This record gives sequence, C-alpha cells and structure tokens, in this order.
Amino acid sequence: MDAIEALRNRRSIRVYETGKTIPRDVIETIIDCGRLAATARNIQPWEFVVITEPDLLKRIANITEHGKHIAQAAACIAVFCLEGKYYIEDGSAATQNIMLAAHALGIGACWVAGDKKAYADTLRDLLGAPNSMKLVSLIPLGYPAQTPSPKKRTVEDVLHWERFG
Ligand SMILES: Cc1cc2nc3c(=O)[nH]c(=O)nc-3n(C[C@H](O)[C@H](O)[C@H](O)COP(=O)(O)O)c2cc1C
Repeated sequence: MDAIEALRNRRSIRVYETGKTIPRDVIETIIDCGRLAATARNIQPWEFVVITEPDLLKRIANITEHGKHIAQAAACIAVFCLEGKYYIEDGSAATQNIMLAAHALGIGACWVAGDKKAYADTLRDLLGAPNSMKLVSLIPLGYPAQTPSPKKRTVEDVLHWERFG
C-alpha cells in the first residue's frame, strides 16, 4: 500500500476479529514507525507501552470514557510523553504514525483520548509510568471487523488558495 492510499483509506476501527492475535514483530514494526515521527527539537519524548493481557485490556477499557472497544482489541498501545512544551504535538504525531503503519499492515486502530481526560493519571499509575509522563493517547489494535465510512469534508470545502475565503 502506498502512502497516499494509506492516508486516504485509514478509518478508525472499533470492532475487531475475535481471538486473532497480532504477531510480536508486526507490533514492533508499528512501534518503530511511531518512534520515527516528527518531534519538536528532536526531543523524542515518547515511550510506548503495549498491552496484550485480556484482563488488563478490560480494566483500561472500563476506565476510559469512549474506549470500551479496547476490551475486544488484540493489543493496545499507550503513548506516553515526558511533559514539556511540545509533548502533545509530539505524542500526536507518533499516534498518527502508529495508526497509519497499522493500517498499512492490515490492522485496524482507533485513537482513544488520553491527554486532558480525567482518567489519564489513573491509567498512568495503572501502567506503572512515572509521574513525569503524560498519557497522550491509547491505540487499540486488531484485525478489522467493520468498514466505517464517516462523513468527511471535501477538499473544496477546506482548501483556500493564498487567502482564507
Ligand atoms: C484527539 C482525538 C481523540 C479521540 N478520542 C476518541 C475516543 O476517545 N474514542 C473513540 O472511539 N474515538 C476517538 N477518536 C477518533 C475519532 O472519533 C475519529 O478519528 C473521527 O470520528 C474521524 O473518523 P476516522 O478516524 O475514521 O476518519 C479520537 C480522535 C482524536 C484525533
């Protein structure tokens, strides 16, 4: 799959094939793409925790507000960043890289909010991350069992040449 196709076709996947695990080397490839994201001043403030234990996935799902589908995922990546000026931007770039890499490898993913959520510190403690880290996102992964097509704004609607308007 080329990059443009991956960017155009990626959608948030919240329903996964049950009982199908993701090989460890595939998850490592996905994390490798995450750690290569753009990062302000090349600080690379990220750490990635991969959760595959079903009981822990369920506990995480229950703590989130709109992440109940994490319970059915084959794995979930928690993206943490060391707190600093650009940690949200850096963690978001890594999150998008991870979702696109997963999609290119035939794996569904969905960004579940971490930063700004009341549960962020609870999840940080549950996963044993130090207090200096901020939870930016959770990314459940699994083989897709749905093909959503949410309404998208058109390029004509969002593109402005030279001036807004
Ligand atoms: C910052 C951010 C937080 C999000 N949080 C959630 C979430 O908590 N639960 C969820 O199911 N989807 C979440 N999403 C996914 C969006 O709902 C999804 O990207 C949007 O509906 C567009 O659909 P698409 O990703 O299929 O293009 C989040 C996306 C972003 C960028």
